[in-house]
Amino acid sequence: MSDGGTFSGFPGQGSAASEMPPLLRPPPSPTRDEQSVSDPLPFERPAATAVAETEVTIGPTGRPMPFLPEPGPVVDRGRARVVSMCNQKGGVGKTTTTINLGASLAEYGRKVLLVDFDPQGSLSVGLGLNPHEMDLTIYNLLMQRDVDIHDVIVPSGVPGMDLLPSNIDLSAAEVQLVHEVAREQTLQRVLAPAMDKYDVVLIDCQPSLGLLTVNALTASDGVIVPLECEYFALRGVALLKTTIDKVRERLNPRLEIDGVLGTMFDGRTLHSREVMDRLVQAWGDKVFHTVIRRTVKFSDSTVAGEPITTYASTSGGAEAYRQLAKEVLARCLDE
Ligand SMILES: Nc1ncnc2c1ncn2[C@@H]1O[C@H](COP(=O)(O)OP(=O)(O)OP(=O)(O)O)[C@@H](O)[C@H]1O
Ligand SMILES: [Mg+2]
Repeated sequence: MSDGGTFSGFPGQGSAASEMPPLLRPPPSPTRDEQSVSDPLPFERPAATAVAETEVTIGPTGRPMPFLPEPGPVVDRGRARVVSMCNQKGGVGKTTTTINLGASLAEYGRKVLLVDFDPQGSLSVGLGLNPHEMDLTIYNLLMQRDVDIHDVIVPSGVPGMDLLPSNIDLSAAEVQLVHEVAREQTLQRVLAPAMDKYDVVLIDCQPSLGLLTVNALTASDGVIVPLECEYFALRGVALLKTTIDKVRERLNPRLEIDGVLGTMFDGRTLHSREVMDRLVQAWGDKVFHTVIRRTVKFSDSTVAGEPITTYASTSGGAEAYRQLAKEVLARCLDE
């Protein structure tokens, strides 16, 4: 068997070419993607030996997976912790995370209020509401002094979880708020009367860093940044961090980054794993150990108008959000 020199012998390259068997190359090894499609998840391969030797499981972020305790009884803080889902990039999983983290926290007995703070109204639609049939929305609450928050809140269909709905009307608020006194504090002011009725308030932000998002950050104790495990998703994160820092300095000193959540992760591709490595390099311990894998079940559950935790209760996606809920509780709600 000749060595690699025979590779120059493509058809038409000298007389030896015609004598050569058609396939002198070793059969092409599968590309990394093909290989990984049929192989077990790459992160579990090195872990197999690691588990035997050290009894440490390496999680999908490439770090040892900590033990996440089953959530205990509700810790009464007297006032809800407010957390914004924020990333100015569109389609990264903000709304999906708001619905499913909220539903998982409700399963663990927490009283949850979801705030749809995006004029697209995806959170409201994702919970089965018709945007054209809403009597009152968060727009009314922001712009009309005489509207009571309890008249705007509706049940979400998930026990223990309520919703402040929104529709396209909210886009007008962004323009009208500019003329308000303390315009950045408007959301915080209107949420205040309901704060003692919930353990956690999750705000679904729109994909921009405009005045609505600044309002959400000003009203929040923490931010969760969902990031699609895709290279372009890393762009713009510096600007988001600058915005969060500015809001902390100028408007809301208690604001902290609760965590960065890798979404739409595909452990079979090198790309997803590389992006995850970069995330951990850049954000360190802020990156949640839980990652949300890519699955079509999320789109299906949106069409059904319910969280994945009820639509496909035993699916991997539902389990991932329950695990995220445990991590969030341990990290910043039950401490
Ligand atoms: N882990 C996932 N796997 C597959 N599809 C997902 C996943 N998470 C979300 N999706 C889908 O991706 C789309 C965008 O998700 P989502 O609406 O949650 O993003 P978003 O950040 O809220 O978007 P926007 O910035 O427009 O508000 C939706 O169709 C959703 O069903
Ligand atoms: Mg959204």
